[in-house]
Amino acid sequence: MTSHIEMVGVQKTFGAFHALKGVDLDIRRGEFLTFLGPSGSGKTTLLMVLAGFETPTAGTVTKDGADITGVSADRRNFGMVFQGYALFPHMSVADNIAFPLKIRGVAKRERDARVAEMIELVGLTNHQAKRPQALSGGQQQRVALARALVFKPELLLLDEPLSALDKNMREQLQFELKEVHRKTGTTFVFVTHDQNEALALSDRIAIFNNGGIVQVDTPEQLYAAPRDRFTAEFLGSINIFELDNPRQLDGFVVGDFCGQKIIAPAPDGGASPLLSVRPEFVDVRKIGPDAGENGVEAFVREKVYQGGNTLLKLVAANGTELTAIRHAGQASDMEHGETLWVTWPRMRGRIIPEN
Ligand SMILES: Nc1ncnc2c1ncn2[C@@H]1O[C@H](COP(=O)(O)OP(=O)(O)O)[C@@H](O)[C@H]1O
Ligand SMILES: [Mg+2]
Repeated sequence: MTSHIEMVGVQKTFGAFHALKGVDLDIRRGEFLTFLGPSGSGKTTLLMVLAGFETPTAGTVTKDGADITGVSADRRNFGMVFQGYALFPHMSVADNIAFPLKIRGVAKRERDARVAEMIELVGLTNHQAKRPQALSGGQQQRVALARALVFKPELLLLDEPLSALDKNMREQLQFELKEVHRKTGTTFVFVTHDQNEALALSDRIAIFNNGGIVQVDTPEQLYAAPRDRFTAEFLGSINIFELDNPRQLDGFVVGDFCGQKIIAPAPDGGASPLLSVRPEFVDVRKIGPDAGENGVEAFVREKVYQGGNTLLKLVAANGTELTAIRHAGQASDMEHGETLWVTWPRMRGRIIPEN
């Protein structure tokens, strides 16, 4: 995919506060890119810089190689969808969607054709004459999406558009959003603080922390190979073992943890004492580690029934909290307070940089 938008060294300060601390980001044409991070990490601020509603304190934004840093929002011609629906209450669904075409002077016949096309795209056939108040939250957000896409913007910016919806509606709209992205081929930049939403929707995810982007990668790559502790812990659940006396040995890192010798593949970079293992690779049982496995003793603190599986929260002798998943159907006779072995294949561990 070719580069569509490029941001280099983007900073934004509000008084003495640094909301963006020098962000570099390459947005590819036609991709679904998600900004994911905790509240206050700078996601909306960067989206506003992209939209042209905020001018960066330093740095540049280019589109197809041309500098657009100083171009105002109305001249960028990007589509936007926010968390609040921001529809015109006194206008019908069709008139809401037609509005961007009207202010651009598009003739009525073409307007009607484009609105009809949009109404079909977002599944609002039979609702076009209604006022927004007569629609559910999910339907209102579909109108907002149609209105943002009707003038065929090359870039669509979405700031937590699904956050106000209940779980079922949110999942339904996630699915539809993905479909709309596929059908239109527009570049989507989507903001969320919901990890599962980001994993489900995105071609790539940019992880935000504290005014910066810490990693940009595909969901699979971010989950399997987070580059720092923040990303490892933010995306899904993970076990982190702080190893004592870590040492390199023939392509492995060997360290000690609660009296056990723990072995993991050595990373490309320098040695770090942080070993991570995803819960799905962990076994919990009465028998200690086999050859090729690591094992740590821990007691069962909590069993959380989740329907399809059961989450086990355990605590090792040094206080480290561990998480394992038992799928429905697996034997699950372990008792609260019982001390068991938490084991995993050595090759499933990943050493991550300490930060
Ligand atoms: N106009 C503003 N004036 C002062 N501080 C702001 C302004 N806009 C955002 N901030 C601050 O910048 C930080 C990042 O905000 P924001 O980009 O909205 O975060 P996010 O969208 O990731 O939750 C927050 O601490 C916020 O309070
Ligand atoms: Mg925000």
